Amino acid sequence: MQSILELQPNLRQKVAQVAQVAGYLWQKGWAERNGGNITINVTEYVNEDADKMPAICETQSIGLILPAIRGHYFYCKGTGKRMRDLAVAPMENGSIIRICNDGAHYDIIADHPVQPTSELPSHLLVHNSFIESGSPYRATLHTHPIDLIAMSHHAPFLKKDILTQLLWSMIPETKAFCPKGLGIVPYCLPGSKELAEATLRELSDYDVVMWEKHGVFAVDTDIINAFDQVDVLSKSAQIYLTARSMGFHPDGMSQEQLQEMTTAFHLPK
Ligand code: 13P
Ligand code: ZN
Repeated sequence: MQSILELQPNLRQKVAQVAQVAGYLWQKGWAERNGGNITINVTEYVNEDADKMPAICETQSIGLILPAIRGHYFYCKGTGKRMRDLAVAPMENGSIIRICNDGAHYDIIADHPVQPTSELPSHLLVHNSFIESGSPYRATLHTHPIDLIAMSHHAPFLKKDILTQLLWSMIPETKAFCPKGLGIVPYCLPGSKELAEATLRELSDYDVVMWEKHGVFAVDTDIINAFDQVDVLSKSAQIYLTARSMGFHPDGMSQEQLQEMTTAFHLPK
C-alpha cells in the first residue's frame, strides 16, 4: 500500500519531525509505555485532492464542536502507541485525520486505521483556538517529564507563577526560550473535556502548562519548538533538584539579573 507521505515531501518532512521528537521523548525518559501524545496541523502540507480521500474506518466523534478546524488535517499519535515505536514507524503508530464539516467528528484517511490519542479533546480544542485567533502555532505536545511532574506534587509550587520564577532563575536561557513561563492546570481526569477546557484557559497566558501530577502540555509553531520549551524547563528543574540533592537550596538568579535578561532579549515582562 502506498503511504500518503509518498509524493508529498512537505508532509513527509513534518511527520519526520514528529518522529524525531518522539525519539527524544523516549531518550529523555519522559515516555514510559504509551505515555504522552503529539498532534500537528498538517492542512497546509497535504495536496489539493486530499479532500477526495475516503475515510478508512467509521467516522468518530470528537466530543466537542470545533467549527474553526472544519476540513483541517492533523497527524495524531495513536492511542496506546509507544513514542519509541513512533520514532521509527510514524505511520504505523499514528494516523492522518480530517475534521468533518460539522466540526464535531473526524475521519481517519491515512495510512492505517490507527485510533488517535485519548487526549484528542485537549489537542483539537487548542488547535481550534489557534485557527480562530490567527495564531501561527501548529503543534501540540503532551509528555511526562519526571522532574517537572515531581515538582507538581508540592502544593506551594502550584500557586500562580511560583514555579515559573523558580525555573527561570536557575539558568538564563530558560526565560529566553520559555518566555511566558509555566502555567498550572489543577488535576483533571486524563482525556477529559474538563482537562481540555482548563488547558485552553491556561494557554491564553502560557505556551507550556503543567497538568498537576500528570505531565505538561506545550504548544508552538512546530513540534521541535514545542519540545524545546519543555526541555529548557526540565533542565532548570534538574538544576534545582541537583542542588537540593547536594544539600542546599540554590540561590537562583536575582530579580535584577532576570530583569536584565528581559530587557536585553526583549522578552515579555
Ligand atoms: P495515549 O496513548 O492515548 O496517547 O495516552 C497517553 C497519555 O499520556 C494520556 O495522558
Ligand atoms: Zn499523559
